[in-house]
Amino acid sequence: MKILVATEKPFAPVAVKGIKEVVEAGSHELVLVEKGTKADMIAAVADAAGLIVRSDKVDKEVFDAAKLLKVVVRAGAGYDNIDLAEATAHGVCVMNTPGQNANAVAELVLGMMVTLIRNRYNGTSGTELLGKTLGIHAFGAVGRNVARIAKGFGMKVSAFDPWVKDEAMIAEGVEPIHNLEDLYKNNQFVSLHIPATPETKKSVGLRLVEMMPKGAVLINAARKEVIDEESLAEAFEARPDFRYIADVKPDNAAELEEKYGDRVFFTPKKMGAQTAEANINAGLAAANQVVAHLKDGFNRFQVNK
Ligand code: 3PG
Repeated sequence: MKILVATEKPFAPVAVKGIKEVVEAGSHELVLVEKGTKADMIAAVADAAGLIVRSDKVDKEVFDAAKLLKVVVRAGAGYDNIDLAEATAHGVCVMNTPGQNANAVAELVLGMMVTLIRNRYNGTSGTELLGKTLGIHAFGAVGRNVARIAKGFGMKVSAFDPWVKDEAMIAEGVEPIHNLEDLYKNNQFVSLHIPATPETKKSVGLRLVEMMPKGAVLINAARKEVIDEESLAEAFEARPDFRYIADVKPDNAAELEEKYGDRVFFTPKKMGAQTAEANINAGLAAANQVVAHLKDGFNRFQVNK
């Protein structure tokens, strides 16, 4: 059967090689569409039984075109790019690969924090992370990795996540916080790791940022949709000490960069999972899941139940 890998942002070549080996070991054929358009994906998916994507949009148009499609695996964590209702309506199983790129995202979070607080290495005196407070908004795979690395820097780490038991946080040296507002009140740095859902969209903005202590830094390596961008722009006016880091530019990036250049740091493209290791981990997991699904209906990480 044909398995299509359609990624606007290509996997590292070493990961593609591994994906090809897994696909061929399962007696399937790999078709690769890298840096393609939506039309390229639609044309290539017509006779595919399996589809592997990253943040690439998989919507009704794609499902309508994919007459033989049985499984889509999002090689990564967030699956807000996939229309789950359409997948279900078309009888297609959708899975993600939770945790596989979490370390890469977490390393980028700490890297961006250091870049910002060292003034982008411009020769002026910056500040340090040692002894500073970090609040983790959602303690999933990425949040846990951020906590591990931040503790290595000597930060005081706490987390808010109503779905995670206190003991699980305490076991990792993280203080559980039971109220979202307290997370923002207690921490100079707050790192967002919530998924983009109807409940979380535009859920973080001026109201929470205003509560943060002096020198507040908000880090968003999750999704730009979780930010209320208009009210965040107000936060820059209301608090001259407020700084914002995001892996993927907000819609109003140009305005923020022009007005508050040294108070923002944005990656030009979503870079969190863009490492060879994360591509290998997530890409190979995705390939194995597609092959296993086509073989015997494997659906352990199904998200459209
Ligand atoms: C994820 O949800 O796994 C990350 O945001 C990475 O997305 P990407 O595969 O598009 O880089």
